[in-house]
Amino acid sequence: STVGFVLGTRPEIIKLAPVIQECHRRGIDTHVIHTGQHYSDSLDAVFFRQLGLSPPDTNLEVGSDDHGAQTGAMLAGIEAELHDVEPAVVFVQGDTNSTLAGALAGSKMDIDVAHVEAGLRSFDDDMPEETNRVIIDHISDHLFPPTEETAALLRNEGIPEDRITVTGNTIVDAVQTYDDRAASESQILSELGVTEGQFDLLTAHRAETVDDRDAFERILSGVSRASAQADREVIYPIHPRAEDRLEEFGIAVPDRVRLVEPLGFFDFLRLESTADVVFTDSGGVQEETSILGTPCVTLRYGTERPETAFVGANCVAGREPSGIVAAAAQMRGKAGDWTTPFGDGNAAVQILDAIPKLAVGEAVTATE
Ligand code: UD1
Ligand code: UDP
Repeated sequence: STVGFVLGTRPEIIKLAPVIQECHRRGIDTHVIHTGQHYSDSLDAVFFRQLGLSPPDTNLEVGSDDHGAQTGAMLAGIEAELHDVEPAVVFVQGDTNSTLAGALAGSKMDIDVAHVEAGLRSFDDDMPEETNRVIIDHISDHLFPPTEETAALLRNEGIPEDRITVTGNTIVDAVQTYDDRAASESQILSELGVTEGQFDLLTAHRAETVDDRDAFERILSGVSRASAQADREVIYPIHPRAEDRLEEFGIAVPDRVRLVEPLGFFDFLRLESTADVVFTDSGGVQEETSILGTPCVTLRYGTERPETAFVGANCVAGREPSGIVAAAAQMRGKAGDWTTPFGDGNAAVQILDAIPKLAVGEAVTATE
């Protein structure tokens, strides 16, 4: 039998790649179902190429739509595909609509659902991702929280202990695998004409940040003021959702902020590890900065990754300019010598070992 993977967006591709690759190392067949939630080359295919993954076995090409239409189309497509493939287990990662559809389809078909990056909670019901996370965790059979804190949140919600294994986050596996290549192969610093340690990096794409005109303007203004105090230029690789909103709202981007296209993983890692301060509303970027030793300022009022703040890698600043300026002043110049809270880079191994039919020694029988 084979192991199924459902994925659809940039972070899912990056964070499931180590698990797919560990399956292959164990001689386990995989079947990757791409929902098509992300489809632009810069959000999708570039990561398959750079991470050395084969193209997906199926692409449902669902594309962009409202939540109901998008998730519904995925659900129907995934169900049909799972009927044909009959995987022993189906893996999903994170909290997107693709993750929810994959978990729902697998659960209803009585296929074991394995949730990578389980247990994260922002306690902010306005985030579509929070709704997705809670449902996904409660219908999954194998839950892989990255930290003890996230495992405790699952236990508090009554999820049985025998479904929970703390593994660290697979983003550590991915960063450890590709960091050296990013440093040696990426030419992004010279392409952009920036110097290590002399620029700031910004990403903002969450619906609650960029779909609200005032919020988007305030964070741009706050980041621009914070970077002006240290005389840094801000590089902003802009997600298409944010780019659409800038145009729709007619927002004037401050001169200090330079928009660039979304970057591939190597170029982005290179910028993250050499930036002076990283400003973000992304989940994955809060994690990566804690791994790479770069100070992070989170442009939100809360985070489902509080461990990054506990180790001193992240300051949750909110969206008011004065708060952003104060947070940047606090974080800039930090040595970055904290230990990442997301494990030692063996998450994929631990994840497969926690599922008896995929564990080393058992895997061969599972594929016979
Ligand atoms: C989705 C996830 C979010 C995750 C993010 C990762 C949900 C509810 N949201 O948000 O949790 O952090 O992915 O990046 O699942 N678009 C393109 N090209 C693409 C894909 C999208 O241009 O390949 C544009 C479309 O205009 C689309 C908009 O981006 O309407 C938003 O895309 P969507 O997939 O709905 O949500 P994301 O903001 O990407
Ligand atoms: N990323 C990238 N290029 C970019 C911006 C981000 O490769 O221009 C990667 C980044 O390294 C991280 C992931 O995308 O691994 C984060 O995805 P995103 O911020 O879109 O989603 P989130 O993590 O918030 O769900």
